[in-house]
Amino acid sequence: MTGTRTYGYTDTLDAEHYARALHADIRAGLTSTPKSTAPTWFYDARGSELFERITQLPEYPLWRAELGLLHKQARDIAERAGAHSLIELGSGSSTKTKLLIEAMDPIGLHYVPVDVSSDALRQASTQLVHDYAGVTLHALRADFTAPLALPKLPEDSPRLVAFLGSTLGNFDRSARGPFLHRLRGIMRPEDFLLLGADLVKTEQEMIAAYDDAQGVTAKFNKNLLHVLNRELDADFHTGAFDHVSVWNRSESHIEMRLRSRVEQRVKIRALDLTVNFEDGEEWITERSGKFTTEGLQAELTEAGLRTEQLWIDSNAGFALILTTRI
Ligand code: AVJ
Repeated sequence: MTGTRTYGYTDTLDAEHYARALHADIRAGLTSTPKSTAPTWFYDARGSELFERITQLPEYPLWRAELGLLHKQARDIAERAGAHSLIELGSGSSTKTKLLIEAMDPIGLHYVPVDVSSDALRQASTQLVHDYAGVTLHALRADFTAPLALPKLPEDSPRLVAFLGSTLGNFDRSARGPFLHRLRGIMRPEDFLLLGADLVKTEQEMIAAYDDAQGVTAKFNKNLLHVLNRELDADFHTGAFDHVSVWNRSESHIEMRLRSRVEQRVKIRALDLTVNFEDGEEWITERSGKFTTEGLQAELTEAGLRTEQLWIDSNAGFALILTTRI
């Protein structure tokens, strides 16, 4: 490694875009009933760090299950896809990506990590450029819930889009169809989509995965309040809210909520908004969908994606699915 390589970095979430999206989501989310906001805002530097700690928790097996599956199957995935470009949505620390990069052959590979966290992107990119001199890296800071403008990639070889960690579950069931359809839209007939999906398990296991004994997930959830205080000049008191993890059976997702411990009014100066909370009122801060393989495959088919291969860790209840366009 020469140490002189650089990488491309495109920021579609410059201060103005980030602020506009944040303002719109928080205003809409905290003036609706029930209060409900996007999980996008968790991931400032501290939030990304707390999420990394969550992945190491005994109660949160999904991250390790996916890592294990990728360990075993990366070569098979790489062979089936035959791709020379890898686009990863919600790349975070890119830890698992290394398995794919090595299996796909780093020499001549184009890697596009997409994330909202500039800190996570920069850290991961610096590391990857150092470790894999043959990889052309183009980091894209973007919110993948909005349409994506991909950098220029080779036209003459297939692309693999990876959406790991069960982050698909952050979309409501009703939003998943349109999102998957949009993903299909950026795929060409020869391209592949690799999805990681956490499967339904016992209610107790699912709730504990979002309410760990050490309280790391509670800190992660309450970090949202710090982000809003800083970014929107708000006056949330973290001590005035409790972290809650609830299984919503009809929607098949875990909800993280913040429950107000008292009746209170919170000022959000940048929005010129005062928000009232009832004593005990709960605000949904994240939805994490849990899947069945049949249900997910049906959703994929409906979005125009065919399952090429399915790998399951039945102990941990986690699935990797490789799909192509129908
Ligand atoms: C990164 C969205 C997949 O929903 O399990 C972990 C985030 N939130 N603990 C998930 C998360 C609370 C995670 N995803």
